[in-house]
Amino acid sequence: MNTSSSSESSDVHASDDADVAATTSLRRPMPADVDTLREMWRRNAAEWIAWARAPMHDSYWRFHRDQFLSLLPSAGALTLDIGAGEGRLSRDLARLGHRVVAIDASPTLAAAARDADHATPVVVADAANLPLRDGVADLAVAFMSLQDVDDLPAAAHEAARVLTPGGRLCVAIVHPLNSAGQFETGPDPRFVIDGAYLEQRAYVDEVRRNGLTMRFASIHRPLEQYIAAFGDAGLLIERLREPAVPDHALRSPERRQWQRLPLFLHLRMLKP
Ligand SMILES: C[S@@+](CC[C@H](N)C(=O)[O-])C[C@H]1O[C@@H](n2cnc3c(N)ncnc32)[C@H](O)[C@@H]1O
Repeated sequence: MNTSSSSESSDVHASDDADVAATTSLRRPMPADVDTLREMWRRNAAEWIAWARAPMHDSYWRFHRDQFLSLLPSAGALTLDIGAGEGRLSRDLARLGHRVVAIDASPTLAAAARDADHATPVVVADAANLPLRDGVADLAVAFMSLQDVDDLPAAAHEAARVLTPGGRLCVAIVHPLNSAGQFETGPDPRFVIDGAYLEQRAYVDEVRRNGLTMRFASIHRPLEQYIAAFGDAGLLIERLREPAVPDHALRSPERRQWQRLPLFLHLRMLKP
């Protein structure tokens, strides 16, 4: 079975790219000397800053940001960006009129976010333990970060706790179908799930493209785990989207595979 090699990951792991021929991606288990995803993201912070900031390098710039922004309600009193990384979405939200607080577990990424935008407060914190009062925000976004947190139920609970009643949590994650398997190589490839879709597992996708390397550390979780975490946190799903890669973002026809299966899953949820 020949899976992966030029499959793609990009903006985030589990094969996200969809169209850049010069991408190689290798999926590995978590290194034995690392206990948590949080630690992996701390180690790989410099790689991520270079990757996330390279112009048009990943799906964020090519289509995913705009797809996600169309899911969000308009700016209210306070927007939390949970797992903000080096802050690119926080900066875009601020430009759209949101008053943003950015949160990330990596001190290096938080410092980079702060350096790039002195007007937006940046907090170093675990999504599973937010140093914020109950009901402080009317919008929380977690863009491509919840597949990377160690404790999903706690992160969902914390996001719900800091929302005001009537507030919303908007999430983009690697689609659980995507993280369960990989496309084979070659024309019109089959998508293969070698392991079990229903089993949670940590993995690292090492992706190289255009002279940059990124190691994306994530957990594959079946969809049921996400829905249970959000439901147990008291959130109601308003929208669920499985956006296809748009035609304009496909730079090569062979990559139409990502119009057959979803790279990402989007959820908009209400705290009643
Ligand atoms: C794929 S990056 C996404 C960053 C940003 N949202 C973006 O799209 O540019 C995932 C982010 O989740 C953060 N992260 C991982 N575990 C976390 C945790 N437990 N609490 C807060 N942030 C975490 C990582 O440090 C990293 O910045």
